[in-house]
This record gives sequence, structure tokens and C-alpha cells, in this order.
Amino acid sequence: MLDWSEPTRGPAVNPQTIAPAAPPAADAGTGLGSIDRTAGRVRVDDKAMINSRADVNQLLPLKYVWAWEKYLAACNNHWMPTEVSMQADIALWKSRDGLTEDERRMVKRNLGFFAASESLVANNIVLAIYRHLTNPECRQYLLRQSFEEAVHTHTFQYIVESLGLDEGELFNMYREVPSITDKAAWALAYTQHLDDPSFRTGTPEADQAFVRDLIAFYVVFEGMWFYTGFAQILSLGRRNKMVGIAEQYQYILRDESIHMNFGIDVINQIKVENPHLWTKAFQDEVRQMIEDAARLEASYGRDTMPTGLLGLNANLCEQYMHFIANRRCAQLGLKPVFTETENPFPWMSEAMDLKKEKNFFETRVIEYQNGGALSWD
Ligand SMILES: [Fe+2]
Ligand SMILES: [Fe+2]
Repeated sequence: MLDWSEPTRGPAVNPQTIAPAAPPAADAGTGLGSIDRTAGRVRVDDKAMINSRADVNQLLPLKYVWAWEKYLAACNNHWMPTEVSMQADIALWKSRDGLTEDERRMVKRNLGFFAASESLVANNIVLAIYRHLTNPECRQYLLRQSFEEAVHTHTFQYIVESLGLDEGELFNMYREVPSITDKAAWALAYTQHLDDPSFRTGTPEADQAFVRDLIAFYVVFEGMWFYTGFAQILSLGRRNKMVGIAEQYQYILRDESIHMNFGIDVINQIKVENPHLWTKAFQDEVRQMIEDAARLEASYGRDTMPTGLLGLNANLCEQYMHFIANRRCAQLGLKPVFTETENPFPWMSEAMDLKKEKNFFETRVIEYQNGGALSWD
């Protein structure tokens, strides 16, 4: 069985085989420039993660098999939020004493954080990352990931509708609740840099700006902040509360663990191909980003769980964030930022492996129509 807590296959390209990248023309790398009728066919060695001049409209020959494998794994994980029954959650949410006030506050802030975050992540992929990642197999994965982020946003729409929550309150928390706004604002600063229409990769400064964006979204947003969010809801699910949302979060967690590992593989591959970017100063900066992000998460934990819940409190979440932050540093080849700490939620790694509890594909309630059965009327 595949373990999505680890990258399936790391970078495997000798940097000596990569031709030095020339700064690309304005539309080179997008795949939408004029067709060069005299160009030769793409060879594997022509392909590169960034600043490639090889035609991005030719998926084959594959160079980065790890990206293709993640695309296939993601397709095998297809799910929709509406397949999960919300009946038990609705009954519990509407019952007077089903949840404590602290549990309700935690659930609402958690949903509020995720509801807008899924869109922030999706917009970053489509509007900032996709254009500058000049490799078709990675883009194939990004297209799949973009759809999954849409499914995740759909999940929060479905939860809001099922529980009869105030949609304005939830979807505006990223603007109105300071501990959530601080996180969104921190990440947006990195994508805004790339949002400038004149931004192009091809210089060390611009390439580092691109890597910073990848770290802010794949390592911090999806790889750190989402994980405390999952732990909060799955901890409730373990106590048989909000079991429908907990099941949806398990599916989101499975998707997100692949997103994060894809992002880490991308960053590490860019490092292999562009070792001049990964300077000591830049490594220190990335470690500082991860440390700052962990501190923002600790504030969010104190805000969402001011008094603590059964088996879950702000201190445990902060310890978990330190454990996760050190883990992400190791995955990027960096020294840890916090003193070594135990994982306070060892059950989280089991939650990622759905097959330990049940076979999703045997319990799903909707069968997908195949091409022959689709009706377009
Ligand atoms: Fe997502
Ligand atoms: Fe994601």
C-alpha cells in the first residue's frame, strides 16, 4: 500500500545534464506562443521544471515519473462530498446539548478557515504557479489538483447547506477573524508577488520568489496549517461527533497529503536543477518562514480552543505544529526549527490511511456513470 506521508519518488536528475537556462521570452513556457514549425521533437533532456524552452504541449516522453504517478493516484482517489451522509451531524448540531459551546466555536472557526483557504490555494495554483512550472507532467498534476480543490470548496458549501450555517459568517472569517486573517495575509503576500503581470522567472531573484510561493502554499498552507485543522475535526470524529464532516476531512486529508508531497517533490527537483538558488541565506529564510508559520498556527489554536476540549487543546496543537514543522524541514533537507518533540496525535497517520478503517470504494453510495451511460439531455 502506498504511504502518502512520504514522497513516492524523490528527484532523480543529475544537475550536470541540465542545460543552463536562458531567460525565457515573454510567452515561452506557457504553451500558447506561436507554433515553431521547424523545431525538433522534445527529448527527455530538454525538459526542466522551470525556465524550460521545451514544448509544454507534449506530455510524452515523460521525465518526472513521480509527477505522473501522483496524477494517477489522485485519479484513483475520486470522491464527492455529497456521497457522505450528513444526517448524524445535522441531528447533533441541532440538538441543544449535543456539543459544548467550545466544540461549536472550534468547528465553526475550523470550517471558516478551510472554506476560504481552499479557494486561496486553488487561485494560487491556477493564477500563479501553473504559468511558471514549465513541465507538462507537473501541469497535468496541477490540473487534477485544481479540480480537487474545487471538490474541497464544494465540501464546505455542502456542510454550510446541510447544517444551515450562516454562509456569510463562515466565508468571511478569513477577513473578519484576526487569527485566520493573519494566516491568509501571510500566504497571500507570496502569491501577490507572482500576480504582477510582468513577473517572469529566469533570474535568481525571480526563481527564488517562485520557490518561496511554492513553500508558502505547499509546505505551509497545505502541509502545516491544514494538518492542525484536520486534527481538530478528526479528534471530534474519534469521539463519534460530527462523523460526516470527519469522514469528508479524511478524504480531504488524503488528497492534501498528495498535494503536499507533490509540492515538496517539485521544490526539491527545482533545487537539484538549480543548485545556485538554494543558498545558505535562502535556506535560513525558508526555515524562518516555517517558524513564523508555526507561530501563526499557535495563535490560531489558542483562538479556536481557548479552554481546551477532550483530548485536544491549544498546547497540544502547538506541539503538533512543532513536530510537523520539523518534519517539513527534513523533507526539504533543512535543519529542524524547533527542539525535537513527540507527535501528540499519532492517530493522525492512521487517519490518512482510510483502508485501515473501511474500504471507501465499497461504502460509497453513488456509482459514477461511465461514458456510455451519460445522458446529455
Ligand atoms: Fe484542498
Ligand atoms: Fe490542496
